[in-house]
Amino acid sequence: MSDKDWALYAQHRTHFTDALVASATREGGRLCVLGAGNCNDLDLERLAETFSEIHLVDIDAKALARAVARQPAAIRPRLVRHAPVDLSGLPARRLGKWKRSPPTVPEVETAAAGALQALLARLPGSFDVVASACVLTQMSFALRTALGEGYPSMDAVRLALMGTHLNTLVGLTGDGGRFLFVTDMVSSNAYPLDNLTPERDLRDLMNEIVASGACYFAANPDIIRRLLLQVGEPELLDPWLWTGPLDRTYFVYAYRVSPS
Ligand SMILES: C[S@@+](CC[C@H](N)C(=O)[O-])C[C@H]1O[C@@H](n2cnc3c(N)ncnc32)[C@H](O)[C@@H]1O
Repeated sequence: MSDKDWALYAQHRTHFTDALVASATREGGRLCVLGAGNCNDLDLERLAETFSEIHLVDIDAKALARAVARQPAAIRPRLVRHAPVDLSGLPARRLGKWKRSPPTVPEVETAAAGALQALLARLPGSFDVVASACVLTQMSFALRTALGEGYPSMDAVRLALMGTHLNTLVGLTGDGGRFLFVTDMVSSNAYPLDNLTPERDLRDLMNEIVASGACYFAANPDIIRRLLLQVGEPELLDPWLWTGPLDRTYFVYAYRVSPS
């Protein structure tokens, strides 16, 4: 991780950290972040003022180790790493088998249920705040790469991945706790996001992006909202723009849910 990466994430880090702090229901609660990686999007020193423990989950153990190593010694003992954890629950072996022979919908559902059970058994639970750090789109891109364009069961497998991830957030959230589903929805590579006027209403823009069909499937807020309604009323936080990696601007939104 370079200082350049840290600087590149500044805009996004401020918004994401603000949303996490604002989601705490008590001082000294426990936070869990899924897809924490290099933690460029988390101001861990600031978060440690609100949360007593911060659990960081990622498939990339080295990224988490680097992120924790660069924190001040005073907060390091309160940062708990969980890696490698594959949050998709879809190991390469299974995807290889599915590529050769596409699964039926019941087979996909059985696999997703098993994946969720294994993930919840692997991680501690009862967190006050749980957050997804733009990891679902990454997992969805990896799925497309593994199964290939035009794969016949792609929608079913992708919906199962989305269900597994949202149910992981629900399953890790303790009584009275909240979770935040934060995701990039599109980049300026696929939708014109540069040169917007400062007064542009980003909620309106979000609807326009969805209507245009440019939104990433796994981040489609209408589908996500429908899935989230099964556990509570999703609250859409103010979306934000972030000019980050690859010299692109990303549209990011967050749903916050208090599971009932
Ligand atoms: C968009 S990045 C989030 C940014 C990250 N928090 C940072 O600041 O570097 C997504 C993260 O998801 C992780 N990731 C991708 N696929 C994953 C998977 N199947 N399971 C767990 N983590 C995964 C990546 O390793 C990366 O750290």
